[in-house]
Amino acid sequence: MLNTHLAIQPVILISNLEKTYNLKTNPVYALRNVSFTIPAGQLLFVMGSSGSGKTTLLNLIGGIDSPTKGEIDVCGENISEYSDKKLTKYRKARLSFVFQFYSLIPTLTAVENVELTMELMRVDRRKIRKEAISYLKMVNLEDRANNFPSQLSGGERQRVAIARALAKNPEILLIDEPTGQLDQETGESVVSLIRDIAKRYQKTVILVTHDPELKKYADRIIELRSGTIISDILIENSLDGA
Ligand SMILES: Nc1ncnc2c1ncn2[C@@H]1O[C@H](COP(=O)(O)OP(=O)(O)O)[C@@H](O)[C@H]1O
Ligand SMILES: [Mg+2]
Repeated sequence: MLNTHLAIQPVILISNLEKTYNLKTNPVYALRNVSFTIPAGQLLFVMGSSGSGKTTLLNLIGGIDSPTKGEIDVCGENISEYSDKKLTKYRKARLSFVFQFYSLIPTLTAVENVELTMELMRVDRRKIRKEAISYLKMVNLEDRANNFPSQLSGGERQRVAIARALAKNPEILLIDEPTGQLDQETGESVVSLIRDIAKRYQKTVILVTHDPELKKYADRIIELRSGTIISDILIENSLDGA
């Protein structure tokens, strides 16, 4: 095994996290009293029915939104009280998002969608095309590099979105309902690919899903109900083999 010591070092510490919307008028408790830690390299699935707080949790960890109470510490940075400016810097440095609706730019080809992220990261212009193709290779899509999103299937679009996320070379990947638009078989192949990539490149992944069929791809499953954790289990994984 590679770097087994990494497996016990927490990258994310969450304590007494609370998020309340409409605090003054009609409070909605999206998250309440949520505490847990995530070790480096873990593939964590967050499950729970619609409205249970999954996206809120992901957005708080991702610095898209700020908690009402509690602490979030990511890679030694306490982001809970960060200003918008510091959060922007944090997101850029540490993580990538993958969303249900892919959010690819329709007028750019697959490889150009990946390149766009790399330009924002100021990768050397001359190296960009080659590197972007290498990210498409990671998701087995190099042969579709010059297709536009409209020419790709849902599963292929999601793989482009994953390649784009990887192009930032983030420590952490935050993935919200990646199979929401896909049929069961395609969805499983996308999540299986996410698992392979996470293990090969030692990424910490938080993936939100409500599909119980996907449980077997997780290292750990946290289940939310009405904004609180109702179970937190480690999965004995038979998928890794040798
Ligand atoms: N911006 C918002 N304003 C008010 N309530 C919100 C907002 N975002 C989410 N909520 C509420 O917070 C709860 C959790 O939402 P969410 O995290 O999106 O759940 P999930 O992703 O599990 O479906 C829901 O009751 C939802 O209606
Ligand atoms: Mg959601």
